[in-house]
Amino acid sequence: MFLKLYDHFMKLSEISKVGVVGAGTMGQGIAVSCALAGYETILFDVSKEALKTGQDQIKKMLEQSVSKGKLSQQKFDQALKKISVTDEVSEVRAELVIEAVVENLKIKQNLFTQLEKINAGKSVLATNTSSIPITQIAEVLQQPSRCIGLHFFNPAHVMKLVEVIAGTETNPALILLMKEFTAALGKVAVEVKDSPGFIVNRVARHFYVESLKVMEDKVTSFEGIDKLMRSAGFKMGPFELMDLIGIDVNYAVTTSVYEGFQKAHKFKPSNIQYQKISEGNLGKKSGKGFYEYSKK
Ligand SMILES: NC(=O)c1ccc[n+]([C@@H]2O[C@H](COP(=O)([O-])OP(=O)(O)OC[C@H]3O[C@@H](n4cnc5c(N)ncnc54)[C@H](O)[C@@H]3O)[C@@H](O)[C@H]2O)c1
Repeated sequence: MFLKLYDHFMKLSEISKVGVVGAGTMGQGIAVSCALAGYETILFDVSKEALKTGQDQIKKMLEQSVSKGKLSQQKFDQALKKISVTDEVSEVRAELVIEAVVENLKIKQNLFTQLEKINAGKSVLATNTSSIPITQIAEVLQQPSRCIGLHFFNPAHVMKLVEVIAGTETNPALILLMKEFTAALGKVAVEVKDSPGFIVNRVARHFYVESLKVMEDKVTSFEGIDKLMRSAGFKMGPFELMDLIGIDVNYAVTTSVYEGFQKAHKFKPSNIQYQKISEGNLGKKSGKGFYEYSKK
């Protein structure tokens, strides 16, 4: 039965083009990873401005790899040529589409409904959601069996881990296919059950939520907390990391995990983040979050 399913499903060699939806922090890194692995990559965003910033950032990421000696000039040229951009969803025609837009169920469902039609139900629809159950995203689709979670980590062109999450209707053969695809990107797949926040974001919630509480209780400053955590061996402190992730994105994920666990107090989102978002201070991407960044 299993082999039969796999026989009728797409093979890795049949994936030649990848659609990446959302040209923000994650879409940029995912597009670079796909292009470096040799896939034709079409990057779509509703915002022309986001597309322009996305393209600039992608060039910068690849240039940094060249200057660090990690990428040859030839590979740089090849990768850049593989990436095209569009602000027309109807142009997102690909065997595999990876969605990386805002952490909002309705927006993701609406997009997937469109993408399923555009691709005549023949594509794999993967979501980079950090916390929304795949089963919920897929329930609006004609073929929920073709929907799966592919959760990359930030920065996506550098970080090796990808959580592969199957919804209740996901075809088992698709899990295998996405593990192969992940390996083709030079990354490591970990299969995870469909539950709020999956593994990494569920465990990591306390790194952020508790640090925000420590700040709220004025135990020490946020810079002090970052310094302590770095000294304790973490690569980054929680506030630096929230700035890198995007405070809006981090807040949306906490809210989603909080809702997913029936408002368990331990996941309660912090007002500090809410305030920062209201002020437009979203972190590195907006030039200011907990810290200030030059806009260069
Ligand atoms: N930032 C992280 O560290 C991180 C890590 C892993 C997963 N994620 C997840 O990845 C997804 C994207 O996060 P991000 O940090 O890249 O967000 P972001 O805010 O940097 O970028 C989101 C992009 O999506 C675009 N967009 C919004 N609605 C759209 C639509 N309907 N169609 C096309 N484009 C649309 C926006 O214009 C924006 O450019 C979220 O689900 C998030 O939870 C984020």
